[in-house]
Amino acid sequence: MRRTNYFQLVLIGLIAGAIATAVAIFVPWLPTPASRQAGRIFFVYWFATVISLFIFAVVAAIMTYALIKFRVKPGDMSDGPPVHGNTKIEIIWTVIPAILVTAISVVSAIVLSEDSNAGTNPLVVRVYAQQFAWSFQYPNGKIYPVLRLPLDRGVKLDITSKDVIHSFWVASFAQKQDAVPGQWNNLVITPDRLGHYAVICTELCGLGHSLMRSWAIVMKPAAFRTWYRGSPKPPPQPSGGAGISAGATIFTQNGCGACHTLNSIPTATGTIGPSLNDLTASAQKAGQPLLTYIKTSIVDPNAYITPGYQPGVMPSSFGNSMSATEINTLVHYLAAHTN
Ligand code: CUA
Repeated sequence: MRRTNYFQLVLIGLIAGAIATAVAIFVPWLPTPASRQAGRIFFVYWFATVISLFIFAVVAAIMTYALIKFRVKPGDMSDGPPVHGNTKIEIIWTVIPAILVTAISVVSAIVLSEDSNAGTNPLVVRVYAQQFAWSFQYPNGKIYPVLRLPLDRGVKLDITSKDVIHSFWVASFAQKQDAVPGQWNNLVITPDRLGHYAVICTELCGLGHSLMRSWAIVMKPAAFRTWYRGSPKPPPQPSGGAGISAGATIFTQNGCGACHTLNSIPTATGTIGPSLNDLTASAQKAGQPLLTYIKTSIVDPNAYITPGYQPGVMPSSFGNSMSATEINTLVHYLAAHTN
């Protein structure tokens, strides 16, 4: 039998390990963590990755070395040596992986338990998902289309859905939670980095799924308190408009712009539903007065379907989720801002 050259074996292992480590380090696999939970989760990721890199280097070294060194010579038809196992090696390759896998599970269990602990005085925010928008309700009862969070304070999100199953995800917070109708699911976040982070729906929920986005804004505690005490910034202003339009606020908060285009609201560029810029002509086609047509289209969207569009796409829950005053305000806002 040929003697093993341990120098070559180790050299191959170092090269394979270096290549795999470069792939792990120089490709930006993870977003910048923006919460303590994300920091811990990314630690688990790197902990498991370092162990995997070590295992990979050992396996790649032995395999490559064996392929080259113990390859049969051309014409060699003789049998290989009769090997009957090696108790020492078998114990090593059982015990070491067992220790490593146990270490990963212990670290994971600790992180999982830490990450579900919101601390003594968490800010509780209710998260409502619906086709195709997010809304966030604070302890004072106010509802906003954007999630504002104070830096370094535990936040407990109570997540539910008004219609189908959605999923709440902010990449930099590193956690996902399903929004299920009739059920409250929790997610604990302790933001530790200022900034704007995209809130994304990660459960296919209908035609507007890819547009079901919002923002999580992490603010300095003082700025958050000022905002929370009652000077909330108005939503994006309708172009050319002065002052806050209640109708525009309702429009934005209910996520109408994800599916409909309306020129008076710059963020309303959706194309899943019909454009709202020509409602007078649509009402004439439907044979209804403008105000009646708009109201019916909101509370009973399947009563009349604009030619070229599908029934059952627009949620029929707005008649229940909005108050009569809100619907009235929205109807008049739309009537005043369409052609
Ligand atoms: Cu909501 Cu996808």
